[in-house]
Amino acid sequence: MKRMIEYRSVPDPEFKTRIPEMAGAFVRTLEATPPFKGSRFHEEATRQGLLTELEEQQGFGVMAAEQEGKLAGFTTFQELDLDSLAQDLLLPGADTLTAYLQAQNTDGIEKVAWISRTIVVPEFQRRGVATQLRHQVLSHFSSTYPQGAFVLTSHHLNNDHIIQSSKKLGFQPTGIQQIYDGTPEAQYWYRTIDARYGQNYE
Ligand SMILES: CC(C)(COP(=O)(O)OP(=O)(O)OC[C@H]1O[C@@H](n2cnc3c(N)ncnc32)[C@H](O)[C@@H]1OP(=O)(O)O)[C@@H](O)C(=O)NCCC(=O)NCCS
Repeated sequence: MKRMIEYRSVPDPEFKTRIPEMAGAFVRTLEATPPFKGSRFHEEATRQGLLTELEEQQGFGVMAAEQEGKLAGFTTFQELDLDSLAQDLLLPGADTLTAYLQAQNTDGIEKVAWISRTIVVPEFQRRGVATQLRHQVLSHFSSTYPQGAFVLTSHHLNNDHIIQSSKKLGFQPTGIQQIYDGTPEAQYWYRTIDARYGQNYE
């Protein structure tokens, strides 16, 4: 019988106990997967760095994909306010991004759901896990934000696989890039979720 992959949101106390496992999966995945393999991003994304980041940041949500309790992948996300997005995101281009979203905001949306990272360990890749993980996250946002939210993420410019998956999930490119040392490396993508206009996600 084919073993099922299950998707579930990881509650806070359990999340803390699984940080080392998540950090291990993160580093192992980056080591094996283009475009991060050998890139500056990978060199900088040490296991200890990610451990510290996950431990220090409050209010992370985690959606996990598991097969018989073993971690196949995960997506982390944070709930932010449009008003304070630039201060909270602390990434290049955040000011321009805030102005861009405010210009799109004809419906008084106040919330931003930031999908910070999606990781699928090498042996589970190419089976739709990343797409399904983020589908579940969008579904969660749909019920969390009945008054609507911008769902925001960022992808490295040459990360074709996650870009393909995001297009399928209804994300659009903003044209706003994250520029490091003068080099454009990533671009912000977004979609709206607004149950008031049937833009929800079941
Ligand atoms: C990017 C990543 C999350 C994709 O995970 P995944 O579970 O393999 O993705 P999916 O199976 O949902 O595939 C998404 C799309 O990319 C395509 N794809 C995925 N891996 C591919 C590969 N190695 N070669 C060609 N196409 C690939 C899939 O075919 C799919 O498109 P399709 O359904 O139209 O065919 C995974 O490769 C990973 O963890 N990479 C390292 C970390 C990373 O880049 N994270 C994203 C940014 S934070």
